[in-house]
Amino acid sequence: MSAARPGLLCAALLLSACSGEQSVLAPAGRDAEVLATLFWWMLGGAVVLWLLMNGLFFYVTRIRPQALSPRAAEALIIGGGIVFPTVVLAALLSFALSEMPKQREPGENLTVRITGESWWWRVDYLPEGSDTPIASANELRLPTGQRSELKLNASEVIHSFWIPALGGKTDMIPGRETRMSLEPTVPGDYRGQCAEFCGESHALMALAGVVMTPGDFAAWLEKEAAPAAIPTSAEALRGLAVFNAEGCGGCHAVRGTEAAGTVGPDLTHLGGRVTLAAGILPMERDALIRWIRDPEALKPGARMPGYDHLSDAELSALATYLEGLE
Ligand code: CUA
Repeated sequence: MSAARPGLLCAALLLSACSGEQSVLAPAGRDAEVLATLFWWMLGGAVVLWLLMNGLFFYVTRIRPQALSPRAAEALIIGGGIVFPTVVLAALLSFALSEMPKQREPGENLTVRITGESWWWRVDYLPEGSDTPIASANELRLPTGQRSELKLNASEVIHSFWIPALGGKTDMIPGRETRMSLEPTVPGDYRGQCAEFCGESHALMALAGVVMTPGDFAAWLEKEAAPAAIPTSAEALRGLAVFNAEGCGGCHAVRGTEAAGTVGPDLTHLGGRVTLAAGILPMERDALIRWIRDPEALKPGARMPGYDHLSDAELSALATYLEGLE
């Protein structure tokens, strides 16, 4: 393999991380815009310094090694080696310091409490003026045009909350509440990812960030606050019977039913979410069945036991019931 191949591969890998729904360089929120702007300015400053340093080096070593008087050489060293980098780095530092306070502005109307679990996200919405949290999981929905406050915590080990397209990352520490605020600007789906190693399925601890217009968000939140839909079809009712017989409600809550467990994610509106199992699967029937049958195969170390003793018909009915929880 030629020497250039690994370099090209690295560049391709790096660039592949810069596009799509999980990129710091495709900002969809005010905080991410600040970070992206800082990145480009820092990169620009670094490129200018690099070019100048290498230009000077080339000049003094290759072009005119003898022609430089000692005074000129000294001026070059002091100017290029000390004065110029100091000016450029000081300018970048003051720009960064002026942008940083913007990230600390608190949220206004909506507060969301997010707890890092092994390996999923507990999400509780606390709209202004309400003291009953609206429980959800593995998905953060936010409206555009307002700053929302996030209160972050963790149950067992340290995690880190990060939706790159919306803003910076913040550690989630057991027993200590950390805070951040986000102000999304562009509606869409953005992927988040736990950014602190937290155990064997750290890489499989993703999060769906969904940014909505204020009207859509208000309608969604109202629906999310409501109890679960009552199953009507015979298949869904059979699924509910399986759900109850297997004791799923011991770990999961489905508001409006007797299922009130708090160990696992709240499933009240599971069918309305965009992903399953903390961002690793699409919210689809086949994925639901695969997940319930053998979570360990999809997320090593997951606390949920497998249900491979259920028949295909029972799993199918269970999936129908869960899909109907919209
Ligand atoms: Cu949670 Cu890494």
